[in-house]
Amino acid sequence: MEKVIEQKFYHPSAEVVANATVKDYESLYTYSIENREKFWGEQAETLQWYKKWDNVLDDSNPPFYKWFVGAKTNIIQNALDRHQNTAIRNKLALIWEGEPGDLRTFSYHALNREVCQFANVLKSMGVKKGDVVTIYMPQIPEQLFAMLACAKIGAAHSVVYGGFSHEALADRINDANSRVVITADGGFRRGKIVELKSVVNKAMELSPTMEICITVKRTGQDVYMENDRDYWYHDLKALPIAGYKCETEQMDSGDMLFLLYTSGSTGKPKALVHTHGGFSVYTSTTYRMVFDIKPEDRYWCAADPGWITGHSYIVYGPLMNGATIMLYEGAPNHPYPDRWWKMIDKYGINILYTSPTAIRGLMRFGESWPKRNDLSSLRLLGSVGEPINPEAWKWYHKYIGQERCPIMDTWWQTETGGFMISPLPITPLKPGSATKPFFGNEVAVVDDHGIDVKPGEEGSLVIKSPWPGMTAGVYNDPNRFVDTYWSKYKAQGWYFTGDSAKCDEDGYFWIIGRVDDVIKVSGYRLGTAEIESVMVSHPYVAEAAAIAVPHELKGNGIHIFVILKKGFDGSKELETEMVNFVAEHMGPIARPEEVKVVDSLPKTRSGKIMRRVLKARVLGLPEGDLSTLEE
Ligand code: PRX
Repeated sequence: MEKVIEQKFYHPSAEVVANATVKDYESLYTYSIENREKFWGEQAETLQWYKKWDNVLDDSNPPFYKWFVGAKTNIIQNALDRHQNTAIRNKLALIWEGEPGDLRTFSYHALNREVCQFANVLKSMGVKKGDVVTIYMPQIPEQLFAMLACAKIGAAHSVVYGGFSHEALADRINDANSRVVITADGGFRRGKIVELKSVVNKAMELSPTMEICITVKRTGQDVYMENDRDYWYHDLKALPIAGYKCETEQMDSGDMLFLLYTSGSTGKPKALVHTHGGFSVYTSTTYRMVFDIKPEDRYWCAADPGWITGHSYIVYGPLMNGATIMLYEGAPNHPYPDRWWKMIDKYGINILYTSPTAIRGLMRFGESWPKRNDLSSLRLLGSVGEPINPEAWKWYHKYIGQERCPIMDTWWQTETGGFMISPLPITPLKPGSATKPFFGNEVAVVDDHGIDVKPGEEGSLVIKSPWPGMTAGVYNDPNRFVDTYWSKYKAQGWYFTGDSAKCDEDGYFWIIGRVDDVIKVSGYRLGTAEIESVMVSHPYVAEAAAIAVPHELKGNGIHIFVILKKGFDGSKELETEMVNFVAEHMGPIARPEEVKVVDSLPKTRSGKIMRRVLKARVLGLPEGDLSTLEE
């Protein structure tokens, strides 16, 4: 991948500047830093509350910051309820296209009815405030209804991405003590059926807490259903209990809205907690200012709702702003590489938000595919999930944005809830840079002692001040929260992101990548510890080390080195079988590029695997300082 850092500015057009909501970044940024609580209090005033806060921020027990303390709210009050009394009621909330080409649309009024019905169904199954409901679904409207219904009745949703294996799903169900799972019989992807219900069935066998499974019919294939455990959603929805009206539960600002599992550098994936109050204010504000949403806009975030990008910027941020959302079920290149461009043309999409991996994937088919569609409706583009290489940036800018649409390269994390470093439409852009911090955020690149590195030098990316979208912690594990994010710069009280970055002379941030043992594959976040623990569960494997190696399309690919148990010999067939083993037990997104059998692994004297040495060997680069290597 191209590594050149370009310093040329791409300036927004006069039209973009004239229509922008925020016209002066610097002065609002200064104001937001000098008056952080006031700034966030003002943003919170744009939402409705059952009861307003006593304090914007309680920072008496860092890093357990509390936002909008004393307030009563529910994100649904702002995402759905308040729109029912305005003209937004009749506006399209959701345009959905299935991969086979089926189309469903919902106005805000219709969406509210669907969510109320789903909420009533959940209540009838005994789901109540504080419960955790697991959602394992394809990208269909019911996935959104299920999430919103949980929020409405005060249950936390835990969405598990449909590309994870039954073991990964069971781990997440068990960790969250979830009693109810919502799924579908299957989904469509690349012309084939993706199994979901059968995966849930296997996961339920490993989950002692699981009692009820609600299944939405999507593909119509045969699935196994068990009496008193399995229910079809359409059957429940037809019952008198599933009425169109349902009270929204009034929540404390700090009550849990959702759990979302994500990989870290050690152990099993952890669940991060986001809350009703802070998350509402942060996602609605960042969405409004960065995507500069206008009432007539049609907005499409092509991520999966199962990831944080989907939670914050498919579902909640847009709905709180009364936006029209596009959702598509399937693969971008099915049946042809212009499926996305066709949909932009057909539905008149104004804003497209996607990942560098998706752009690189579509770029390889060439510009003739976007060119045969009318993309003139596009006004803004976005990118997220991994650094965008300048070559992909320029292609996206030229052939999709037609040199007219600024690209919002938004840097953030599951933990941050929303954009932390991002351009605004008025920001002069540099391809590959996420530009500047969002309002209220003090961000820096520092060395191991917390000293600012010089402009252009690499260091650790830290956030020095709290923000309303920040996670309330790791579910049931406060120590892990403190250790992972707040121990490296404990003396300073800063949040450590796990990323390395540079900041240039113009104050623009350039994200380089993870410095911990997290691997970003196609923008998906996976932990080496997780991958290795799956690999060593293979009956022949004694030890395993997983590393990330740059990959042209995926950003990074996974390479695994294994030592076999005594008495077993390596072979090409075994290596291939081990590749399949990881994909099967973790999910297709974790399929390694290669598994290689070796006799030994480079380790420090204390027994830690030196991944950097393995990586240098794969890439044929110098192995660096080997003084700590064991004999
Ligand atoms: O390494 C950064 C990368 O994605 C990580 C967070 O992953 P996750 O929690 O899965 O959230 C992804 C979607 C918000 C970060 O630590 N990352 C995210 N956005 C960018 C990025 N790297 C470079 N540029 C970005 N715009």
